[in-house]
Amino acid sequence: MIQELFPSVIATGRVAGSAKLNNELLREINILAEMDEPGVRWSKKNYIGGYSSYSSLTQLHHTSPNFGDLEKRLRPHLKQLIQKLQWDLMGRKVEMTTCWANRMGKGTHHTLHLHPLSVLSGVYFVSTPAGSSRFKMEDPRMERLMAAPPRKTNCDRKIRPYIEFEPKPGDFILFESWMKHEVPPHRGDKPRVSISFNYEWL
Ligand code: NI
Repeated sequence: MIQELFPSVIATGRVAGSAKLNNELLREINILAEMDEPGVRWSKKNYIGGYSSYSSLTQLHHTSPNFGDLEKRLRPHLKQLIQKLQWDLMGRKVEMTTCWANRMGKGTHHTLHLHPLSVLSGVYFVSTPAGSSRFKMEDPRMERLMAAPPRKTNCDRKIRPYIEFEPKPGDFILFESWMKHEVPPHRGDKPRVSISFNYEWL
């Protein structure tokens, strides 16, 4: 008998009522990209060609009603993921603790990384115009595979070394924070806009 064990659990889907919400979020993020001077300065060095509030405004779910609305709309999906993971929360809660906005210009990218100090992380897509980068995740066993033969290029999606998602506006991806992910360079003329967030077990 062949058994497949130790799965990585990733939740994807569409947030209800996202079209109207995205208009508001986009308007607000465009204002932030003008007004958030520390964030603009940080982005010039660390998020070239784009704007991210990663270092400056990371409580947007508390400070903006639109981002707060997004957090609420993500809750049923978060609950579903936690159920799938079969976590025993021991009377504690998993709550969004940081939330920030990202607007990628042409060529902006985000190298492979994970999100320390949290249990679940995610991204929500506000605008993904033509040429938008995919969202790429890496097999968490990658560093253990150094002597193994490569997998066939047409192997099952679930055992590919990288999985790519082609998100549309209103889509979300939720995953355990140790899952490595990256955003290759954005190729669109219009900005690719997303919102990132972390959850902690409190
Ligand atoms: Ni990330």
